[in-house]
Amino acid sequence: MRYTPLSAATYREHRARFRKAMEKGGLAVFHSNDIMPTSADGSMPFHQAADIFHLSGIDQEETVLLLFPDAFDPKDREILFVRETSPSIAIWEGAKLTQKQATGQSGIATVLWTSSYDATLQRLLPQAKNIYLNSNEHLRQGNEVETREERKNKELCAKYPLYEVKRSAPTMHRIRSRKTKEEIAQIQNAVNITAKAFQRVLRFVKPGVKEYEIEAEITHEFLRNGSRGHAYTPIIASGYNACVLHYITNDDTCKSGDVILMDFGCEYGGYASDLSRSIPVSGKFTKRQRDVYNAVLNVQKAATKLLLPGVYLADYHKKVGVLMEKELIGLGLLDKKAVAKQDPEKPLYKKYFMHGTSHFLGLDVHDVGLWHEPIVEGMVFTVEPGIYIPEENLGIRIENNILVTKNGQVDLFKNIPREVDEIEALMKKGK
Ligand code: GLY
Ligand code: MN
Ligand code: MN
Repeated sequence: MRYTPLSAATYREHRARFRKAMEKGGLAVFHSNDIMPTSADGSMPFHQAADIFHLSGIDQEETVLLLFPDAFDPKDREILFVRETSPSIAIWEGAKLTQKQATGQSGIATVLWTSSYDATLQRLLPQAKNIYLNSNEHLRQGNEVETREERKNKELCAKYPLYEVKRSAPTMHRIRSRKTKEEIAQIQNAVNITAKAFQRVLRFVKPGVKEYEIEAEITHEFLRNGSRGHAYTPIIASGYNACVLHYITNDDTCKSGDVILMDFGCEYGGYASDLSRSIPVSGKFTKRQRDVYNAVLNVQKAATKLLLPGVYLADYHKKVGVLMEKELIGLGLLDKKAVAKQDPEKPLYKKYFMHGTSHFLGLDVHDVGLWHEPIVEGMVFTVEPGIYIPEENLGIRIENNILVTKNGQVDLFKNIPREVDEIEALMKKGK
């Protein structure tokens, strides 16, 4: 295994949190992801579904988790189904988890082969009052491809139409957004690898370098440190490209005088990190670039302090908008009088800062969480203000990952340079 997994005790704790939210007589089912095809006989690398991973730590295809706290037989209260191996699978794909290994990883005593899932469900359902099914309720999900979980849910509902179905997603969003101790440590592991990659980039960048060469440096640093790669498609955007928010072609040449906006983060053990840094190709910012950079940094520092338990994210985002307005007026990009008269529904700052400031971070880079409830300690957010000025071929974003504690915040990126002088000094040293 490339990474050190979380302990079985942590997965037990995650399941206990889920069980606590279940109604009496509930039976919950969670499925893993499919291995997605490409074309011919090709397939994508396997990516485990975040919810079953969160509850079991099992990073293998065709896994099913069944939670049934009120089952008559204690052995049926938690059942994990894993794919049975065979001599042919062992030769072509390598080792799969044994039942004993699956117990060791997840802390679940009853481990059966996936082939016995249908019959086990049929045996247990007469004892159940309702069925908890999981679904992707991420606010921005928009995938047209049916997941294995959605397919299996349909099959179950068709076969057992008379059971009351309940949604697991709201509970998953709640428990996944409040990180346990080991999860925070795992995110920090991901962050630490991302930090190494950034240090390497600072030494590497010079005029004439291709954006994809920078991407290659980052990818190499991730893989050699036990990460399976990027937590999301990296953005390496020099000059004007930084104003294209989802620029991922990364095929331009970095020119002296331009700033490169880089948004990248490694995954480690399934957990994401999410960094943005903006650095000068030549190693030195111009006066204007420095001013814009410091405006973004001022917003980032002030915004971070607003992330406290009890705060609603909608109120937080409004306050960050006011901070940004002030900076944009200072840069001469917005007019103070026009801002005073603006339509509050269409604030003028959105011309230069058109995305949100923060999102939940965890197993998914845009992690699940309850946006309509107040922040609680243990949540991890990004703080990522930006200013994009296409007419100046300049886009700057600075993004850190922040843990909210009882009395404040811990910056998981505190060791990753972000002050102008620090960045310039490190780039000079690399030359
Ligand atoms: N890297 C994606 C984001 O910053 O939200
Ligand atoms: Mn990012
Ligand atoms: Mn982000």
